[in-house]
Amino acid sequence: MLINFWYALARSEELSDQPLKVRALNHDFVLFRDSKGTAHCLANTCVHRNGSLSAGQVQNDCIQCPYHGWRYSGDGLCQLIPTLPDDSDIPDNARVDAYPVEERYGLIFAFLGDLPEAERPPILEAPEWDAEGWTTLTMEYHWGAHYERVMENGFDATHAEFSHADASATAGNFQRGKETKYTLTEASGEWDGGYTIDSPALSLVQGYVGPVQGWAHMNFMMGKERGDFRFYYYVTPVNESICRRYLLHARNFMPGKRMDSELTETNWKFEQEDRDLLEAMRPIVPPRDHGHDLLQPEEQAMAQYRRSLRRWEKNGWRIDADALEQLGMERTCVIPCPARRNGGRWILPETPRLHRN
Ligand code: FES
Ligand SMILES: [Fe+2]
Repeated sequence: MLINFWYALARSEELSDQPLKVRALNHDFVLFRDSKGTAHCLANTCVHRNGSLSAGQVQNDCIQCPYHGWRYSGDGLCQLIPTLPDDSDIPDNARVDAYPVEERYGLIFAFLGDLPEAERPPILEAPEWDAEGWTTLTMEYHWGAHYERVMENGFDATHAEFSHADASATAGNFQRGKETKYTLTEASGEWDGGYTIDSPALSLVQGYVGPVQGWAHMNFMMGKERGDFRFYYYVTPVNESICRRYLLHARNFMPGKRMDSELTETNWKFEQEDRDLLEAMRPIVPPRDHGHDLLQPEEQAMAQYRRSLRRWEKNGWRIDADALEQLGMERTCVIPCPARRNGGRWILPETPRLHRN
């Protein structure tokens, strides 16, 4: 799991006036809305005596710890320590990590890391969301699989014929053999990669932006109609073996509720078929170097994705899962937030990472 990327932590509708606890990257976070409705994301552990902030309440645009009532604003700074006399200052280190938040496409994204704004990777854009002529659906899936397996499955075009064999709606679109051409897309920046497939019945372009965001543009026959489908998905690792997947699904044909429910049902079926397969794969974490599986030419996008992961890991962004596990019951740690780059003393240590200089 990598820090320094945007993660979809919840659906907008899940966050009301009550705080919401979410787990991602094997750490706890609290989400809350201020009186303007703006969403905030903080590390969930109160630095006073380690209370769980998400069990508290929102008061005066702050999250109030349920234990002794310390209040933290959306920037993570403590604004009130009830036991302090009125004329005394709140200590500088009375603060928790606060993460940048963006609310888009009905999802609440938080940037879980400490990069300054100009260096942050982008949130994958879904331009068809709310756009004229497009119908969109959002689905949320929970998988007992490693997020990288889920991502790789997203750009695995050849499994459909076998794992979704009885999908009558899409039958005949995926054809093997000479008629199908796979081309790796040149990555346009340091965050992305992808590939195209051209075959008589199907044209597909797909790729990834960062470790947990993927997309696919398809043009194919559905029953008697041909049309465009656009998928955008945002995967959130809960820990090394569980993840959530938010799928935005857009189409420019066959609008209407009946088609919505048909497509929802088809997507559920696909997702469940994939989930059963992925949850049984071993090792749980896909191989990161060559020689532990046998990728084929049409799987170059996976190799490209793995190269990207290795590059990001070398930046010191990969959480050291074993070291984190070993913290055991006596210690805790947090994902560092951007304000840590300004120095000062922080009460809780940063999460252990690989290749950290
Ligand atoms: S533990 Fe949070 S206020 Fe004391
Ligand atoms: Fe699938």
